[in-house]
Amino acid sequence: MKVFQVEEQWSREHLRPSTRPDPHPGPGEVRVAMRAAALNYRDLLVPQRGYGARMQALPLIMLSDGAGIVDAVGPGVTTVAVGERVCPLFFQSWTGGPATGRRLGRSLGCEVDGTMAEYRVLPEAGVAPVPAHLDDFQAATLPTAAVTAWRALIGEGRVRPGDKVLVQGTGGVSLFALQFARLAGCQVVVTSSSDEKLARARLLGADATINYRSVPDWGRRAREIAGGGGVDHIVEVGGENTLGHSLRAIRPGGTISLIGVLSGGRMDASLGLVVTRHVRLQGITVGSRDDFLAMSAAIGQHALQPVVDRVFPFAALHEALDYLASGRHFGKVCVSIRDDL
Ligand SMILES: NC(=O)c1ccc[n+]([C@@H]2O[C@H](COP(=O)([O-])OP(=O)(O)OC[C@H]3O[C@@H](n4cnc5c(N)ncnc54)[C@H](OP(=O)(O)O)[C@@H]3O)[C@@H](O)[C@H]2O)c1
Repeated sequence: MKVFQVEEQWSREHLRPSTRPDPHPGPGEVRVAMRAAALNYRDLLVPQRGYGARMQALPLIMLSDGAGIVDAVGPGVTTVAVGERVCPLFFQSWTGGPATGRRLGRSLGCEVDGTMAEYRVLPEAGVAPVPAHLDDFQAATLPTAAVTAWRALIGEGRVRPGDKVLVQGTGGVSLFALQFARLAGCQVVVTSSSDEKLARARLLGADATINYRSVPDWGRRAREIAGGGGVDHIVEVGGENTLGHSLRAIRPGGTISLIGVLSGGRMDASLGLVVTRHVRLQGITVGSRDDFLAMSAAIGQHALQPVVDRVFPFAALHEALDYLASGRHFGKVCVSIRDDL
């Protein structure tokens, strides 16, 4: 089978198309004939230097997101059938409940081979069915960005109708957060570096928008938009340079979901504001199989359409990664595993 993997050493130069023997499912395992994959910000970092202390030894098949059709099942499989369309799940050992070290230990495209392959063999609990109305590329976007946004707002955040939610940027996690917040009946403020992207965010349901380049003090502006009292929930993907603004925007007792560190990973914000505003800082690391299933049910029920910006052919993974790194995308960047899609 064809794969796209990091070989010999960590670097973009060693990220190459290659082949491996076709895998076959053993007891309790299923084989997924992959059709589509999707990129996440982490995929820019993994080939350069690995990601964390528990990386799989090289070679490593890239990417954590994808979707495909189950084409074989091993002995003893009871919950998955041949012909079912599924997503491999981001965390292969987190079926439900709170995060634990063990549950966070096996993610695709990092500690375990990823989705950039013609076939993946996984435990039956390591895949989950996909809402029927989605095309293969939309389905491929769900395991990482969508589950992260879902767990931030619904699982941990417990947002309620009428809550005010602020979403930073228009990347994969943030557009899912916008869509889920709207599903939950919340009012949503979106920030972006681009007026054109903000116009598109309004078409997706954003109630208010702020260009964080032309309004550098966007935290205060968001507070004003929320009527002076602050917003209830913030989806924080910027990190070092944005947390201070988020602390200005949040209402007393509000929740900031710490998801990304796009502008840096050090803490450089007023801890006094965290204390005096009674702010809940909630770290989020994707989510569990149960989160995926609950989210999929909501996506199916509301016929939600994930936003796919662009699809690249399998051989163009480097171009897809460069496009993601450029920041020009709105929503998700995908890759076609099969040439006929
Ligand atoms: N904790 C988790 O479980 C988890 C899961 C997924 C992702 N993440 C992290 O979350 C972050 C976003 O991931 P993603 O996959 O959604 O990335 P992405 O699709 O590449 O989106 C990044 C977007 O964020 C916005 N942005 C960049 N720098 C910003 C800044 N300084 N302030 C505000 N917005 C900024 C930009 O939007 P505009 O172009 O509109 O300005 C950019 O397009 C990354 O750090 C990623 O590692 C964490």
